[in-house]
Amino acid sequence: MVFTIAIYSIVLLLATISQSLAKNILPLGSAKQDEPLPPSQDPFYTPDEDWEASEPGTILKTRSVTIGSIIKLPTPLQSAHQLLYRTTNAQNQPSYAVTTVLIPINAQFDRLLSYQVAYDSPNLDCSPSYTIQFGAPTAVDDPVLELSILAEPFMLAGIPLSIPDYEGIESSYTVGTQAAYGVLDSLRAVLNSTDITGIQSNATTTLFGYSGGASASEWAGELQASYAPDVNIAGAAIGGLPVNATQAFPTIDGTSNSGLLVGGLNGIANAFPPIAEYIEEHLKPEFKSEFDLAMTMCAASVFNSSDGYVPQLADKNISAFFDNGWAVVSEFAELLDTVWVMGQHGVPEFPMFVFQGTADTTVGSLGNATDLVQQYCNDGAIIHYAQVAGADHIPALFRGYPRAQSFLMDIYNGVVPDKSTSVCTNILRGFTQDIESSSTPDKINPPQAVPTFAY
Ligand SMILES: *[C@@H]1O[C@H](CO)[C@@H](O)[C@H](O)[C@H]1NC(C)=O
Ligand SMILES: *[C@@H]1O[C@H](CO)[C@@H](O)[C@H](O)[C@H]1NC(C)=O
Ligand SMILES: *[C@@H]1O[C@H](CO)[C@@H](O)[C@H](O)[C@H]1NC(C)=O
Ligand SMILES: *[C@@H]1O[C@H](CO)[C@@H](O)[C@H](O)[C@H]1NC(C)=O
Ligand SMILES: *[C@@H]1O[C@H](CO)[C@@H](O)[C@H](O)[C@H]1NC(C)=O
Ligand SMILES: *[C@@H]1O[C@H](CO)[C@@H](O)[C@H](O)[C@H]1NC(C)=O
Repeated sequence: MVFTIAIYSIVLLLATISQSLAKNILPLGSAKQDEPLPPSQDPFYTPDEDWEASEPGTILKTRSVTIGSIIKLPTPLQSAHQLLYRTTNAQNQPSYAVTTVLIPINAQFDRLLSYQVAYDSPNLDCSPSYTIQFGAPTAVDDPVLELSILAEPFMLAGIPLSIPDYEGIESSYTVGTQAAYGVLDSLRAVLNSTDITGIQSNATTTLFGYSGGASASEWAGELQASYAPDVNIAGAAIGGLPVNATQAFPTIDGTSNSGLLVGGLNGIANAFPPIAEYIEEHLKPEFKSEFDLAMTMCAASVFNSSDGYVPQLADKNISAFFDNGWAVVSEFAELLDTVWVMGQHGVPEFPMFVFQGTADTTVGSLGNATDLVQQYCNDGAIIHYAQVAGADHIPALFRGYPRAQSFLMDIYNGVVPDKSTSVCTNILRGFTQDIESSSTPDKINPPQAVPTFAY
């Protein structure tokens, strides 16, 4: 709790400081700074010929970038790099993606945090590699805000960050297998980038992600042993898990989060052409422009809004967009079960801290995180699990974050969570909710009109 208050105060304090610093820093970063091109137009996002033949995780292109943000805390960065790397897509074909590597000024090159940001979009131009660059559109954007608040403490501790566009070049939002490949191959690339980034190939590596970012991290955990046994992950902290995304259709249609269904359907259509064709066939023409909104807009700022994801789609009955309701879900049930449901591809072999709000209305109805943790515990995983009592999606993030952060920092400092400290045994005995409600803020309103500046 103390940490939550501290984070909140630091955000406000430093945002104020950065406002005053911005005047001085802005000219340095912005002088003749070219606006970055969106990924859909940027040639960096296309590899040179013959990339298919390379091994997953191979670095295909690199460049330096300038990072900017709306409420950038004044952590000096030594450098920022992007790596275009070979990965695999949801159809198990060769593909590629970009990760952004941030090196703080006091970098400890024997550490790496893979931060899976919840960018939650089937639109390539919402990929964090673009939205966190200096000069990208400055509208309040979740990834920027999320990183400003939650990645900052790690950077202040000197931990280099990798922020993968884990949905890949196809922007396969919600496709678990794609996200896993995107994360695992980004780690292969970053851990083989010493010449460029300075990060050591044996750096202690952890994962963090919440909500959409937790999904990517969790899927990476499931598939690590089979897809990337060479990648050594020391631990992960994840929260707000959508355990079985198929359950979203009956439960969040017509709610403030109904736009997520449109995002998810577009994402799955991006990954699987037969689903795209099916949707095209059954989408009523009068709803096409609304359905396409998710392909042109980025996710709304959930930190500053009760309007949910893509506000124009909130409270809509999305099943009514189709001439056959949710038939797409039953038509492709077998496929969806393999890419939308956690817990079926393997047991995470590294220790995890998992936290979930008990009153989560965004992902809480999508399967049962306690059951998933229980299943992994039975299969030998090492998991510290915390339910956040009475907390909805965003409050659970802020209340659970201090525990998540200390879990990862302990790992960097050599404390290896083992079975004796795992709460799996407690779950077996009858689980108690162990992060109580508190007076700490459930929501952080970003300061208004803080100028963008580069660092
Ligand atoms: C690392 O990159 C080098 C080229 O810089 C390449 O030769 C090598 O195969 C890569 N190693 C791995 C494990 O990908
Ligand atoms: C990592 O590699 C460096 C140099 O390659 C070596 O000095 C160090 O001991 C290694 N660290 C671990 C934890 O293996
Ligand atoms: C996921 O949820 C859907 C909808 O409730 C259900 O039909 C399906 O069986 C679930 N999948 C798994 C693997 O549990
Ligand atoms: C946050 O939300 C309020 C109310 O909807 C809005 O007026 C304000 O512009 C938003 N702030 C940002 C930074 O988007
Ligand atoms: C949503 O649309 C479907 C299909 O038109 C309809 O059956 C259902 O009653 C609608 N639900 C609501 C809450 O309007
Ligand atoms: C999840 O399952 C556990 C039992 O395994 C049950 O006690 C709990 O109420 C369930 N939670 C939800 C949100 O369904």
